[in-house]
Amino acid sequence: MRRALVVGNSDGIGLALTRRLVAEGWSVVGVSRSPRDDLVQHVVDVTAAEYPEVLAAVGPVDLCVYAAGVGELFDPADLAAQTRALEVNLIGAARTVEAVVPGMLAAGGGHFIGLSSLADVLISADAPGYAASKAGLTSYLLGLSAALRPKGVAVTAVRFGFVDTKMAKGAAKPMMVGVDRAVDVLMHAVRSRRPVVSYPRRMSVAARVLRLVTRSTLKR
Ligand SMILES: NC(=O)c1ccc[n+]([C@@H]2O[C@H](COP(=O)([O-])OP(=O)(O)OC[C@H]3O[C@@H](n4cnc5c(N)ncnc54)[C@H](OP(=O)(O)O)[C@@H]3O)[C@@H](O)[C@H]2O)c1
Repeated sequence: MRRALVVGNSDGIGLALTRRLVAEGWSVVGVSRSPRDDLVQHVVDVTAAEYPEVLAAVGPVDLCVYAAGVGELFDPADLAAQTRALEVNLIGAARTVEAVVPGMLAAGGGHFIGLSSLADVLISADAPGYAASKAGLTSYLLGLSAALRPKGVAVTAVRFGFVDTKMAKGAAKPMMVGVDRAVDVLMHAVRSRRPVVSYPRRMSVAARVLRLVTRSTLKR
C-alpha cells in the first residue's frame, strides 16, 4: 500500500486531501497541532524542537504533502504574526523536506508537494509575511525539483488562488474554488509529478499583473 504524510491535515485542504487519499487506497499519516480522532495523526507544531523526531518516527513515505500554513492580515502592533507566517509556511516546509527527502532518495523515488500560493509573486501590504513565505517556498521547491528529479524524487509547488477554507481572508476573494476542486487539482499533481501547478490559471495571470502595478506604484 502506498504511504503518504500530510502535514497540516486537521482542517481545510489538508483534511480534504487526506480523506481523498484514504478513499483511493493510500495509507495516510497526518500532522497538526489539533488532534483528530478519525485520522492517524501526530499532534505537533511544525516549529517545535521535537518536530523532526516525530517525522523520523513516521518513517519512509512515497508522498509528502506540506499543507500546513498560517497567514494573518497585517497589524503593525503584531509583527510577530508576520514572522510566524515565515516560520510555519517556509521554515516548517524546509524542515519537512530535511526529514523526509533522505528516505525518498534511499528508496530511489518519492514525491514532495508543497502548497504554495499565487501570492508568491505579490508585493503585499495586506500580508507581507505570507507573500514572502510563499515566494520563498515556491523558489525553494522549484530549485529542489531541478536538483532531485535526476535522482527519481519529484518536487511540486502547487500555487492556488483563493480556496474556500478559513485561511481565505479579505473582503474580496475573486475566482475562489471549493476544497473538493482544490483536491482534484492536487490529485492530478500527484499523478503528473509536474514541478509547478498554478490554479486557476486566469487568477495566476491576474496576480502577475497586480505585481507589475504594485511595483510601478512603489517606484513613484
Ligand atoms: N485557502 C486558500 O485560499 C489558500 C490559497 C492558496 C494557498 N493556500 C495554502 O494551502 C495550505 C492549506 O491552507 P488551508 O486553506 O487548508 O488552511 P487551513 O484550513 O487554515 O488549514 C491549515 C492547516 O495547517 C495546520 N497548521 C497550521 N499551523 C500549524 C503548525 N504550526 N504546525 C502544524 N500544523 C499547522 C492546521 O492545523 P492546526 O491548526 O490543528 O495545527 C490546519 O490543519 C496553506 O499553506 C495555505 O497557505 C491556501
